[in-house]
Amino acid sequence: MVAAVRVHKPGGPEVLTYEEIDVEAPGPGQIRINQHASGLNYIDTYIRSGMYPAATPFVAGNEGAGEVTAVGPGVTDFKVGDRVAYVVTLGGYSAERVLPADRAVKLPDGIPYEQAAGMMLKGMTVEYLVQRTFKVQKGHTILVHAAAGGVGLILGQWANHIGATVIGTVGSKEKAELARKNGYHHTIMYRDEDFVARIKEITKGELCEAVYDGVGKDTFPASLDCIKPLGMFVSFGSSSGPIAEFNINLLQQKGSLFATRPTLNTYNAKRDALVKSANALFKVVGSGAVKIPVNQTYKLKDAQQAHRDLEGRKTTGSTILVP
Ligand SMILES: NC(=O)c1ccc[n+]([C@@H]2O[C@H](COP(=O)([O-])OP(=O)(O)OC[C@H]3O[C@@H](n4cnc5c(N)ncnc54)[C@H](OP(=O)(O)O)[C@@H]3O)[C@@H](O)[C@H]2O)c1
Repeated sequence: MVAAVRVHKPGGPEVLTYEEIDVEAPGPGQIRINQHASGLNYIDTYIRSGMYPAATPFVAGNEGAGEVTAVGPGVTDFKVGDRVAYVVTLGGYSAERVLPADRAVKLPDGIPYEQAAGMMLKGMTVEYLVQRTFKVQKGHTILVHAAAGGVGLILGQWANHIGATVIGTVGSKEKAELARKNGYHHTIMYRDEDFVARIKEITKGELCEAVYDGVGKDTFPASLDCIKPLGMFVSFGSSSGPIAEFNINLLQQKGSLFATRPTLNTYNAKRDALVKSANALFKVVGSGAVKIPVNQTYKLKDAQQAHRDLEGRKTTGSTILVP
């Protein structure tokens, strides 16, 4: 039996139940790992609450890192003792787990498990957002909402490294300072300031090539007013709640804009894409261009508090859970 955090019925943070579960031997194509750390991501709250439905009971969490303790029949890419990390839907908050081998990647020696658990889901998300959804280039100006969050701090550094001017919205002065230390050239306190007016001021009316919006309800449709004609609206999350309806004619009115609602699962569905995405992340982290601020660590048994803090806007950067 191993320690895990399960959900028996969707709901608030209180439904995260710390308990002992059985972990089976890996089946064909699977590996079993001893998890040193699991990542906390906003999607964990959508699944916990039932906004993204999942069959119950389930072990919460979508990301983790640890060493391989057993390999199932047919697995040739991994052996016992390998250091690995992964992103896979559900099963993350657990001291040990079984997962499909084709969703795991080997960790470079220089990346500790704790850092890996704080960066695989968010970092590969940033990889596809800035390299594939909209290719950020030197000279571009982009706006990123929730700049001091997990995805936000990585996005700021990566886009800055590419050579873009990066503007971020944040919920407090402390978060503004942190964002500026992590790649952002300008920050906007979007709870107090009109962020559209500030974007016009900062860009001298030129606006942005792209807006990366993981906040959703509260920043829509104002985000569209920050984008240049023919620019890209990337709606990749909904920490303030989902965008209820989207009138496509708005894109014409705001300047023949493009809009997309991407997910990591689609972009990294194929093994090839996953490996390329992970390698690109390992490269920018290995070179020091992107640092992974793991700013909160909770015990697995304190998963409820971790969710309260994430939803209460109290966390910055990445958060991990350890057994
Ligand atoms: N589509 C994908 O492939 C993909 C993958 C990973 C993550 N995501 C999305 O990316 C976003 C960021 O994820 P994350 O895990 O890195 O979380 P996070 O940014 O660390 O946390 C969410 C942040 O959103 C901001 N926020 C604004 N309004 C909020 C509200 N009403 N309630 C709570 N927070 C609010 C808060 O920052 P301030 O206090 O500064 O406002 C908060 O810290 C989420 O929307 C997530 O779903 C999408």
